[in-house]
Amino acid sequence: MTVLAFHSPKGGAGNTLVTAAIARRAAIRGRAVSAYDLTRQDSLKLLFGLLPHQNLVGANGQAMVVRGVRLNGNYVTKGERDAAIERIKATPPDELALVDIASADWDGWEQIRRFADLSICVIEPNPIGLASLTRLGEQLPVTEREDIAIVLNKLDDRRKLSRHCHRFMKQLFVNQFVGSIRRDESANEAIARFESLVDYAPNSVIITDVDILIDSIEQRLAITGLVRDPQKLRAVNSAEHQTV
Ligand SMILES: Nc1ncnc2c1ncn2[C@@H]1O[C@H](COP(=O)(O)OP(=O)(O)O)[C@@H](O)[C@H]1O
Ligand SMILES: [Mg+2]
Repeated sequence: MTVLAFHSPKGGAGNTLVTAAIARRAAIRGRAVSAYDLTRQDSLKLLFGLLPHQNLVGANGQAMVVRGVRLNGNYVTKGERDAAIERIKATPPDELALVDIASADWDGWEQIRRFADLSICVIEPNPIGLASLTRLGEQLPVTEREDIAIVLNKLDDRRKLSRHCHRFMKQLFVNQFVGSIRRDESANEAIARFESLVDYAPNSVIITDVDILIDSIEQRLAITGLVRDPQKLRAVNSAEHQTV
């Protein structure tokens, strides 16, 4: 099993978009994927083309599989949420579980990151985004937290500040930086049309960037020895061998 926790200290950075895009692309690549929306907003399903009022539980009482991803969410009570966290812990060995945690939900993040393989923090390339990273470190500075990976989202290379933030973050967070995703309005257009981004805009730069990000996360997990699936580890190692 591989559990990735998505949490950002600043709301609106694209935590949900990145969770949904990775889930969908990993499913297309043949992985068994479950996505959990632990946020009160419950917007993850909108990125799979569902409507706000749509229920995620099918007639058989099981979480629905939407576009190749088992979607879980709409937790109202603490009991429902705790049960979901227990299910995440019991993710089957060959499955990838992605967990979308709201920015204000420090408790949820604390709970999940204890057993997650990696905590991914999505940040926008602007000063407030950068400043928000100082909230993650606790006793250790973020630069020394091996369990945290940083993704820059909504990158716009036409903007000087965006470019500079990108360069600065890559230099500062050498061990944490796992990738960047460019800004593309098709992210919102897809939601407005109740379609998933992959279906609405298959050529979006977001998808290109997310594919690179997935490779980078997989490599990072193997490098830090966190992959619990030996077959996958072997595959990553032999791929590295080939590129040498
Ligand atoms: N790469 C991107 N390009 C353009 N818009 C984006 C991108 N990533 C996210 N967005 C938009 O930014 C807004 C916030 O994204 P969301 O994933 O809901 O953030 P969070 O979950 O961190 O609060 C949404 O309107 C979303 O469509
Ligand atoms: Mg969100």
